[in-house]
Amino acid sequence: MTDIRFTGAVDHIAVKSEDLAGDVEGYKQLGFEVESLFEDWAMVRDAKGFGIALLPPGSKHPPHIAMRVETMAELEAAAAKEGRPIKPHRDGTSSFYTKGVGGQIVELIYFPADFGKAKAAE
Ligand SMILES: [Fe+2]
Repeated sequence: MTDIRFTGAVDHIAVKSEDLAGDVEGYKQLGFEVESLFEDWAMVRDAKGFGIALLPPGSKHPPHIAMRVETMAELEAAAAKEGRPIKPHRDGTSSFYTKGVGGQIVELIYFPADFGKAKAAE
């Protein structure tokens, strides 16, 4: 029987970007919406909510595949099982990175219930 480490639904992939502003524009031309845009990181999402995070040179984040959990308790249980610390992020999410499959890195991420509401109210 397969031993389940943790589960989640794929939320985004994070890829390197040599030109953050230019790449954001490029994804907008493909119908993506900009969810977050900082000097050193951006997140764009397609019409169905799948995200692509853009990591410019020097980013502190590694390229990765992110899986989303629905509760903080799930994130905490998985982090404890994996022996990884949870980090809160400036966009309001919390996550940890861990070993993925085939040398990839997996991020397990939790979006709080009020995620994006402050931004939407601006
Ligand atoms: Fe991520």
